Amino acid sequence: MNTSLSKVLVSLSFMGSLSLASCQSEGEVKRQQYVAEGFELYKSSCMNCHQANGEGMAKLYPPLAKSDFLTEKNKALVICGIRHGFDKPLTVNGQVYHQTMPGNSALKALDIAVLTTFLYNEWGKEKKITEVQEVEKALATCP
Ligand code: HEC
Repeated sequence: MNTSLSKVLVSLSFMGSLSLASCQSEGEVKRQQYVAEGFELYKSSCMNCHQANGEGMAKLYPPLAKSDFLTEKNKALVICGIRHGFDKPLTVNGQVYHQTMPGNSALKALDIAVLTTFLYNEWGKEKKITEVQEVEKALATCP
């Protein structure tokens, strides 16, 4: 291979890896923003009951930290619960809870997306954003 061509190829692949790296970190920056904003919303709307560390309170308020309720499958339920509250018995980590959680009609779909991202990234097993479209779709099907 002649040297000038190989130089071009090297610089092309370098640029390729640069743009890939910056693209990944943009997604990561957005994810971290959602988590940080979600924590702010959590502090103002949820922390009184579920506590700062997400451990909940005795048999009254279920934990969010390490909660086995925070699965991908339950995400629409969680989204509907944040908006409309919970009033049916719920089992979290083997413990049955039966108290009423109030709804949050003032939270917009984007707020709920940000909050859900915080819950699932901080205390669930996800490392990704819950997008606002997913929240809107879930809200449209709430019972
Ligand atoms: C007044 C106390 C109270 C507040 C405030 C509250 N919750 Fe709850 N939360 C509860 C109770 C009680 C339950 C269990 C409901 C039941 O037994 O049906 C619950 C259940 C949950 C669950 C499902 C079970 C689990 O532990 O994984 C999630 C998720 C949840 N809450 C998230 C939130 C979020 C997010 C907020 C803030 C927007 C919030 N809660 C605000 C009391 C509260």
